[in-house]
Amino acid sequence: MASSRVLQQIALLLLVAAAATDAATITVVNKCSYTVWPAALPGGGVRLDPGQTWPLTMPAGTAAARVWPRTGCTFNGSGVGRCITGDCAGNLACAVSGEQPTTIAEYTLGKDGALDFFDLSLVDGFNVPMRFQPLDGAPCRAASCAVDITKECMPELKVPGGCASSCGKFGGDTYCCRGRYTDNCPPTNYSMFFKNKCPDAYSYAKDDKTSTFTCPTGTNYQIVLCP
Ligand SMILES: *[C@@H]1O[C@H](CO)[C@@H](O)[C@H](O)[C@H]1NC(C)=O
Ligand SMILES: *[C@@H]1O[C@H](CO)[C@@H](O)[C@H](O)[C@H]1NC(C)=O
Repeated sequence: MASSRVLQQIALLLLVAAAATDAATITVVNKCSYTVWPAALPGGGVRLDPGQTWPLTMPAGTAAARVWPRTGCTFNGSGVGRCITGDCAGNLACAVSGEQPTTIAEYTLGKDGALDFFDLSLVDGFNVPMRFQPLDGAPCRAASCAVDITKECMPELKVPGGCASSCGKFGGDTYCCRGRYTDNCPPTNYSMFFKNKCPDAYSYAKDDKTSTFTCPTGTNYQIVLCP
């Protein structure tokens, strides 16, 4: 009897260990004083009133995932409507990326001991301050963009609900709109404005040295809106 009980305990421990490494919970927390409609790919989208949270459970190996806050939304009973920022084809639950401007939290969850990668991106402009926070005392640090950039946005980049990126506002090759995630695009006075306000955030192509963060696989996170 004693040994079978030990076996049961070992089996339970293995189950707990498997649960801890097979998935991570990424909880979106709305600390803004206003309602936000966060969207996630994968994950969909919801309405989040001040103080509410939205937990997303994502399997290990989830790659190129993104979470962004939408603002100024109205949806009808079928979840069809519009948002001033971050709109995804007029749907409450998103199947496509959001329209600029929007702050974006990006992540890839490791698998089999590989690291998690995450960042806050301002390449599509800015709408809501955000913090990407590892939990559980993980030995890694948060990425934070807590400044409300919209308030200080240059007049030529100001758009309803946020601060546009130079690509989003002007388009064209000058601002590296074509392949801006991969081309060797030099920073401009506009992208440096975002970089100076939020040094943690990814603000222009090749800005990957100081803005990509890692944590051990299995870490859980909070994405805090208006930290
Ligand atoms: C919501 O709007 C869509 C698009 O206009 C429409 O097809 C749908 O019937 C509307 N749903 C409700 C409940 O009004
Ligand atoms: C940024 O650079 C552009 C192009 O050189 C210029 O027209 C604009 O006035 C500059 N803006 C600021 C805020 O320095």
